[in-house]
Amino acid sequence: MDDTSKIIKKAGRYASMSTSVAGVALQLVGEKFLGVSIDRDAHSANLMAVLGKFKGPIMKVAQILATIPNALPPEYAKAFQELQANAPAMGWPFVRRRMKAELGVDWQSNFIEFPKNATAAASLGQVHKAQDSDGNWVACKLQYPDMMSAVEADLNQLKLLLKIYKQYDDSVVMENVHAELADRLHEELDYRREANVQKLYAQLLKDEAHVHVPNVVGTLSTDRLLTTEWVDGCGVLEFEKAPLEDRNKIALNLFKAWYVPLYKTGIIHGDPHPGNYTVRDDLSINLLDFGCVRIFNPDFVGASIDLYNALKNKDEELAVQSYKTWGFGDLNRETIEILNVWAGFLYGPILDDNIRTIGSSDEGVYGQETAREVHKKLRELRAGLPIPREFVFMDRAALGIGSICIRLQSEVNWYRLFNEMIEGFDVDDVRARQNEILPKYDLV
Ligand SMILES: Nc1ncnc2c1ncn2[C@@H]1O[C@H](COP(=O)(O)OP(=O)(O)O)[C@@H](O)[C@H]1O
Ligand SMILES: [Mg+2]
Repeated sequence: MDDTSKIIKKAGRYASMSTSVAGVALQLVGEKFLGVSIDRDAHSANLMAVLGKFKGPIMKVAQILATIPNALPPEYAKAFQELQANAPAMGWPFVRRRMKAELGVDWQSNFIEFPKNATAAASLGQVHKAQDSDGNWVACKLQYPDMMSAVEADLNQLKLLLKIYKQYDDSVVMENVHAELADRLHEELDYRREANVQKLYAQLLKDEAHVHVPNVVGTLSTDRLLTTEWVDGCGVLEFEKAPLEDRNKIALNLFKAWYVPLYKTGIIHGDPHPGNYTVRDDLSINLLDFGCVRIFNPDFVGASIDLYNALKNKDEELAVQSYKTWGFGDLNRETIEILNVWAGFLYGPILDDNIRTIGSSDEGVYGQETAREVHKKLRELRAGLPIPREFVFMDRAALGIGSICIRLQSEVNWYRLFNEMIEGFDVDDVRARQNEILPKYDLV
């Protein structure tokens, strides 16, 4: 039995989705080996149907994959981004049982008010807007039961899908991507860790007057329940038609929320989904959801700045050095050129000393066109390029924030903004800050 039929057979073993995963696999394999060309739209709809059966966590993965260049055929990207990354709601008897398990039989004495219905959906559970015994409004994020096994099952399905896809196209090696997503999803199950990260973020952003991190209510938080101060704000897309000045301010604040922690301390919020922040009346940002945060080796962050300088000064040697530090391994001339295309695209706006938008709003999914070009070139080379783990969330953040700034059509001198932010950057300072601060929040 060849690899492909083994995989299809294995797919068949997953009872609930056997037909659809296998079906999707067959289509891809058919295109590759039998020369049958598949109807891309129908295919992408089928794959969505398969993924639609997954629970919360994998939907988040699908969304993330959709924003990583080459992770999936570009046709899927748009469809994936529209997927709802949330688990179905728990009813009141269920919520009561879960709350009792987290805070004890007396759990209701901690609240003046606790609504029976969830106020918002979360990927691994749901959020109730409650009033604590002091009268403060809080967000109680309560995890669904058995999410650990759901995450495991979904990760296995994902591995399978990636394997299937590899049969179809192996120009990019995805093993690291899977490992990275698996690590982040496992961390996301641990709300105690998330509480620590949220406290760390409050510290990292304390001097940014226009970015707010809600306080954690430690007495009402456990491994599976995260209670934080309730913060009011609007969705960012409600500002699409706001005056330019306002849209620019929002872009600026988002940029700070994402990149101050990165260049000061080597940490990035890995999920720039618009559900994970809101905008206050004064246009400052409430930053939410610290379940998927990446702590980088400072050398990796240093290399991202080296690469910036390399592109700015057309310093080929420094660029290659940066890719090496990023973990791209031995690179030949052709691969370097391909990586330069991608880097040139991502860094484009911060290399241009002008007031401008990140890109045009009618370009479709931000980055997909360049991703397609990069992908095609890699295929021609027939050299499977292993994507370094760190790349996943670095890219994800840039594309996520970039695409929101495009939706807003914000006009900013990104070059100045970036250069001000990295002024005085020193890898050893970042290292020292990490060594000092991470143990304080139990994050080593
Ligand atoms: N402190 C808060 N104040 C107001 N709304 C909140 C707060 N925390 C979470 N929410 C709401 O709950 C939703 C889900 O919470 P989030 O932390 O993003 O969960 P998940 O990690 O599962 O995505 C958010 O998109 C937001 O609408
Ligand atoms: Mg969220």
